Amino acid sequence: MKYPFEAEEGHTARTIGRREFLLTAFATSVLHPKYLKVPTVSMRADTALIREPDAVNSNDLFKPLVTPNVDFFIRNHFTAPAIRKDKWSLEISGMVAKPLKISYSDLLLSSSVRRPITLECAGNFSGGPDVSTAMWTGVPLEELLKQAGVQAGAALVVFYGADSGKGEGVPLGTHFARAIPIEKAMDPSTLLAYEMNDSPLPREHGFPLRALVSGWYGMDSVKWLTRVEVSREPFKGLFQQERYVAVESSGERQGITRMKVNSKFLRPTDGEEIHAKAYGIEGVAWAGEGKVARIELRFDSGRWQPVVVGESPPSMVWVPWSYPWSIPRPAQYLIEVRATDDRGDSQPLVRDPDRKDDYELNTPHRVMVKVRW
Ligand code: MTE
Repeated sequence: MKYPFEAEEGHTARTIGRREFLLTAFATSVLHPKYLKVPTVSMRADTALIREPDAVNSNDLFKPLVTPNVDFFIRNHFTAPAIRKDKWSLEISGMVAKPLKISYSDLLLSSSVRRPITLECAGNFSGGPDVSTAMWTGVPLEELLKQAGVQAGAALVVFYGADSGKGEGVPLGTHFARAIPIEKAMDPSTLLAYEMNDSPLPREHGFPLRALVSGWYGMDSVKWLTRVEVSREPFKGLFQQERYVAVESSGERQGITRMKVNSKFLRPTDGEEIHAKAYGIEGVAWAGEGKVARIELRFDSGRWQPVVVGESPPSMVWVPWSYPWSIPRPAQYLIEVRATDDRGDSQPLVRDPDRKDDYELNTPHRVMVKVRW
């Protein structure tokens, strides 16, 4: 049986109409069916979610939650460029046998995949809003690199964005650019996406084309893509060497890549007042390229209690979870959530004191709520 998380291959823009209809039809349903009576308004605007419908598998635990485009977090270093699709093309250059220049219409005619992918900014804080999930449609980068013919000895690909600045203290004219190893570039999960939740990419999210490096922190998913360069040399771009680097107190520096296991509450929110004896706690957990193996909750720093997770949670996309809380008495409660991935890595209870940077923050999300009857 095919899980809805697997990429749909050979998908073309022609089927959009039906998918748009389905998304709209399901736009008002959220999370577990038993909470369907709870309207979406129970969530903050930045976490409003849509349950992606699926005709193949009706097991509700396996349906991804997608974030509508208007609620998807935005992280731009410079002003978002306005690009006309008829004036745009993508170059594939460097260590390739046959450099390519691809137009927007060529892209739409290429065979594509459609899959949910969770993106988190490396600078997101625990429980923060800079993590979202969309259903992305695009061309696997691997296909284009095979057409171009990657030469022996190639070690990485560099993604160049059209945006440049002014801003954040960088030298004028610096383009946003990031490199990933050739192995990750050739992984079928690395996409060049032109649709987000079945609409053309919004300008803020990289129109007309962006990279999506599944399971890695968001900075590698370069937007407003103009060039993919295959190279042997380490990439010395400012956003590669000065930013998005883990710095230890010893001075050791290491590039940031794969997303760390993480989780957050969708409800309740911090400071929420609850006027009920039973409450459905809900949230999401994700583990980058890995899978979420365990989710636990605790109240007032007590014993960690397991939350049921589906048998085969997918990689690259967050999993929704819920916990039916029978509230023992009216009081103030501190609630925490933590997840563990299939490698056995858990969210650390405290930040590694050796880290001098502010990336990869994944200590448990904590919310304080007041229950009144
Ligand atoms: N691509 C370009 N060209 N310029 C940028 O500033 N920001 C990166 C990445 N790609 C960025 C970019 C960062 S830091 C993140 S977290 C993601 O885009 C955010 O993607 P989103 O704004 O679509 O959520």
